[in-house]
Amino acid sequence: MSVWAILVAAGRGERLGLDRPKAFAKLGDEPLLAEPLRRLEACAWVDGVVLVAPPGWEEPAILLAEEEGCGKVHACVTGGETRSDSVRAGLEEVPADALVVLIHDAARPLVSDEVVERVLAPLSEGWDGVVPGLPVGDTLKRVGSDGGVQETVPRDGLWAIQTTQAFAAEALRRAQASGGEATDCAGLVEAAGGRIKVVEGDPHLLKVTSEADLETVAAWR
Ligand code: CTP
Ligand code: MG
Repeated sequence: MSVWAILVAAGRGERLGLDRPKAFAKLGDEPLLAEPLRRLEACAWVDGVVLVAPPGWEEPAILLAEEEGCGKVHACVTGGETRSDSVRAGLEEVPADALVVLIHDAARPLVSDEVVERVLAPLSEGWDGVVPGLPVGDTLKRVGSDGGVQETVPRDGLWAIQTTQAFAAEALRRAQASGGEATDCAGLVEAAGGRIKVVEGDPHLLKVTSEADLETVAAWR
């Protein structure tokens, strides 16, 4: 079984508000992207990696992968306007004989072997996709633009979904070809009628959005 990972790193990082894309923000004393690159390289489940870089940052991305000794990175492609566009660009470089495709956000630097193992396992039971998540702990309220509470949303059965997400390559390609939009790849596969399973995620898979998140993740490394 060959497993390919698409590392999507092409976002602008607007909420971080730096002079560079989020993938090149400083995590400790190195670019954020170095961490997930090294971790995917070291992950025994992963056979190959396609790196999706921000427009104009392809060369630094390739150089970084080389510096980190990431021989599994077989291609580096330019990302698109939306995350889905970036995933699509990455998927085009995944070899046709790949059986499983993992999608990982570079913005979640602390990818672990354990989570990769957890999302891969159910694929052999016939699921089209498997995503890691955490049960929502906070009370959820729908709030209007004036700050007024409109309703309290029951949180039973609600999970916050993370990456790494795993897909049967065929199911992901089919869903991509159907051309829908969704906030994550699992959403695309669901819309195309695919069956998605949720497994336990990891709080350390925090997505870096703000400066404070960078410090939190740096301290967890
Ligand atoms: N991503 C991407 N291509 C895009 C948008 C996002 O590859 N056009 C990637 C980001 O690089 C990130 C992941 O998708 O690894 C999750 O996106 P997000 O956390 O929203 O990152 P950004 O879009 O870069 O941040 P912001 O929304 O603040 O601009
Ligand atoms: Mg974004």
